[in-house]
Amino acid sequence: MIVLATSEGVKLGRRLAEELDAELVPVEEDRFPDGEQIVRVPPELDGTVVVVHSMSPPQDENLVKAIITLDAARENGAEEVIAVVPYMAYSRQDRRFEPGEPVSFRAVARAVSANADALITVDLHEPDTLEYFDVPAENVSAAEELGKYLAERFEGEDLVVIGPDEGARELAREVASICKTEYDHLEKKRLSGDEVEIHPKELDVEGRTVVLVDDMIDTGGTMVEAARALRDQGAGTLYAACTHALLTRNAATRLLASGFEDIIATDTIPNPFEKVSVAPPVAEAVENLSG
Ligand code: R5P
Repeated sequence: MIVLATSEGVKLGRRLAEELDAELVPVEEDRFPDGEQIVRVPPELDGTVVVVHSMSPPQDENLVKAIITLDAARENGAEEVIAVVPYMAYSRQDRRFEPGEPVSFRAVARAVSANADALITVDLHEPDTLEYFDVPAENVSAAEELGKYLAERFEGEDLVVIGPDEGARELAREVASICKTEYDHLEKKRLSGDEVEIHPKELDVEGRTVVLVDDMIDTGGTMVEAARALRDQGAGTLYAACTHALLTRNAATRLLASGFEDIIATDTIPNPFEKVSVAPPVAEAVENLSG
């Protein structure tokens, strides 16, 4: 088995190769004078080839890079191509919100399916959309690895894990079950026509160490709003944790300026706050899917 990694997948690829006891081969990347991308892989591949590439920002370029790298693997001898795309771009456009719009994520899933025999991703925004892939696909969770990290880092502290909205409750529950602590999510309560209060649904956070956990931090707006609400309720030290650290529009600076002590992220997207690797669950999925 060979693990082929692009520059957006090389750190995870290296860890994955170690887990699988496979050879890691970096993809050679270049551009034509007009700006189009070109990749090169070893010309005599065989057997199972695992392509590790994240569709992180700039998403459109990385979508094209995914497709041409998968094509290169297949055209150069791979008998089976497993795409490991830990962050899938367009996953939030998973249905037609307005008439005339595309189901963008389905279009992306079909493009990947046309060029791979199987797909592995991590904490897909809406897990049910895995059905958009036309090939066997697995969505692995970073929860266990995040939970183990939090358990070690915050041992002995009065820790609580909170999802910034209801959609993040399940991830908060899974993470909390690993670090054996309480969890909750924030909900908005309308006090009057123009007054909204955000507070944890059930728990008291006063004086406690709070880790806010979400599938992704994009602009940071959700986390900043959540931090404001938690500080109003007397929360102790705040941490922002996520699987996918997109961190667009200066999000990291905004988060740290809004009172978060630190950002805790995984290696699904190259980022400076990566502290947790998803390589163990991804390796397990590769072993399950490879023929
Ligand atoms: C939303 O449903 C997602 O789970 C995240 O909460 C959201 O995408 C984060 O975006 P931002 O950081 O821009 O608030």
